[in-house]
Amino acid sequence: MAALELDGVRKVYRSGDAEIVALDTTNLVIPSDEIVALVGPSGSGKTTLLSIAGGLLTPTEGSVTVANTEISSFSQKQLTAFRGQNIGFVFQAVNLVPFLNARENLMVVAEMNKLPKAAAKDRASTLLEELGLGQRTSNLPDQLSGGERQRVAIGRALMNEPKLVLFDEPTSALDTKLGAQVMELIRTEVKRRQTAAIIVTHDPRMTEYADRTITITDGVLSV
Ligand SMILES: Nc1ncnc2c1ncn2[C@@H]1O[C@H](COP(=O)(O)OP(=O)(O)O)[C@@H](O)[C@H]1O
Ligand SMILES: [Mg+2]
Repeated sequence: MAALELDGVRKVYRSGDAEIVALDTTNLVIPSDEIVALVGPSGSGKTTLLSIAGGLLTPTEGSVTVANTEISSFSQKQLTAFRGQNIGFVFQAVNLVPFLNARENLMVVAEMNKLPKAAAKDRASTLLEELGLGQRTSNLPDQLSGGERQRVAIGRALMNEPKLVLFDEPTSALDTKLGAQVMELIRTEVKRRQTAAIIVTHDPRMTEYADRTITITDGVLSV
């Protein structure tokens, strides 16, 4: 089973008279347990591809299949529900809820998916433990370091047991050593769950944590 299949996917942004082909016709299959690094310069279409794969953005052309479900014709409402159950996101800017502690930030996801509270608390505690944050579960985001906040965001992305986890430059705000630690953790956690992942990075050193590296230049992939 493929976690992601892009078939003839293309994305064109229109601003006034200008057309920007952010993603040229793309075919891509990612098996259910593969970690892919997506590398390319700024403006090459990485976030566009990730957003389409995650059902945050609709392609101009082509079909998107996630976990054997074709999502390209879904309504916004269907997409929201589908994302909540099948996809995990970790963004560059960690957007934790500031007035919730680390564990509660994870439990929000379970609540949206109507998981019973006791089970959600157990799962959140286990994840935070795995991520080396067992002593930090009751800390608010501003009581955590940048690396710790990024680890909470990784835990949050894994709360719904997603089939596909999408990381957009997860280490760009961290120094090299912390970045390597976070990548190591991502690899361990993703492999433990046999989940597929796409990790966008502009740092070629990060590709050693992936099973496969795909390069993107001006919206065109090369394997
Ligand atoms: N909402 C938008 N409207 C118009 N152009 C956009 C929009 N989002 C991205 N672009 C353009 O599409 C191209 C790819 O952008 P993006 O996917 O964000 O690249 P990357 O993540 O690799 O930096 C860039 O030229 C960018 O300026
Ligand atoms: Mg980007």
